[in-house]
Amino acid sequence: MKSVLSERKTLHPQNVERRELPAAAGQAVRELAREISTTLDATLGEADAARTLTHPALIEQIDARVAELPREVRQAVRPPATAHGATIVSRLPLTDTEFGPTPPSWREAARWSGEPATRANSFQFDLVMLLLARSAGEPFGWLGQQGGRLVNNIVPAAGHEHEQSGASSATLLSPHTEDAFHPERAHLLMLGCLRNPGLVGTTVSSVRRVELSAEQRGLLSTPVLPILPDVSYGDGHEKCSATPLPTLWSAAGPDEQTLRYDPAYTPLDDAAPEFRAAYARLTAELERVCVTAALAPGEVLLVDNDVAVHGRVPFTARYDGTDRWLKRVNIRLPERQRRAAEADENGYGQRIVAPFRSAGTLPIERGTHEWDVVPNDRGTLEHS
Ligand SMILES: [Fe+2]
Repeated sequence: MKSVLSERKTLHPQNVERRELPAAAGQAVRELAREISTTLDATLGEADAARTLTHPALIEQIDARVAELPREVRQAVRPPATAHGATIVSRLPLTDTEFGPTPPSWREAARWSGEPATRANSFQFDLVMLLLARSAGEPFGWLGQQGGRLVNNIVPAAGHEHEQSGASSATLLSPHTEDAFHPERAHLLMLGCLRNPGLVGTTVSSVRRVELSAEQRGLLSTPVLPILPDVSYGDGHEKCSATPLPTLWSAAGPDEQTLRYDPAYTPLDDAAPEFRAAYARLTAELERVCVTAALAPGEVLLVDNDVAVHGRVPFTARYDGTDRWLKRVNIRLPERQRRAAEADENGYGQRIVAPFRSAGTLPIERGTHEWDVVPNDRGTLEHS
């Protein structure tokens, strides 16, 4: 029988960057979230604040108070610093009993967190995630994803076991760039673990660890194929022109290789054999360098969405209230630049919800596009 220590060692690859929150810093985040929750409860209805987390009073509280957090919090959530493009931040204090049962769907998770009888500390942990994400950059959501909520709940949902989405379980969630099809995709992805009893692994593969020939890099750096939206974004994107994109790109020189990769939504059959071969080589290399992190409660995974792709290993969902439960936030890093050509992409009509963005964007974008896509009943791109 393995000792507890040896089992513990298997949770994470030894070479992935780890950062520990000092105990006082972790407590400070929890305490500030509790205070903000209390303040909002006194001024708003619970359901109102929890519904999308975009209420102006909530945004104002986060922005006004995030600077109160200890410096160590901001240091812990800065972008990953190694070639792995991922960092595990640990020691966020929490207990299994404080959140209630794992909800059966993202929709129920959002509804429960708005109701005093069922919310337990789920809403408070949404605020924890927003405080951490705001310490790193600008949290944002998608109008067509989980109802525009800024903090998404990643839970397995019955009937969705085999999808390529975060609601799935029985199938491998293939490595992908989050929202690869969109020019406003996150720079940083933050996954916070509340519960993971089966030690289900999240996979991460960095483009900075792959080996490709100069010819392969050249081919993959050429805009050949588009990346289309996940089908769960609904109909309508066919009306948009599809822009060919480079799979590999670099904004800051050859040592700063970055990628935009989602083979499930890339029409590879449309490309020449040489390109397909180079793409296949990249896929094999991403598999070779893949590391698997089994997040434990209180751990937060940061993924640099320009450097690493992520996925999830298959698992058997129990649907008994004890299943894996993650919270996810998309983060924009205002200081980070991407290719200038991305500014011309249409994003297939998908709109972000960006209440923290200070300039250049409407605070909360609503359905103003002539063919705004109506979210379906399972949310969209619920990858994790
Ligand atoms: Fe994902």
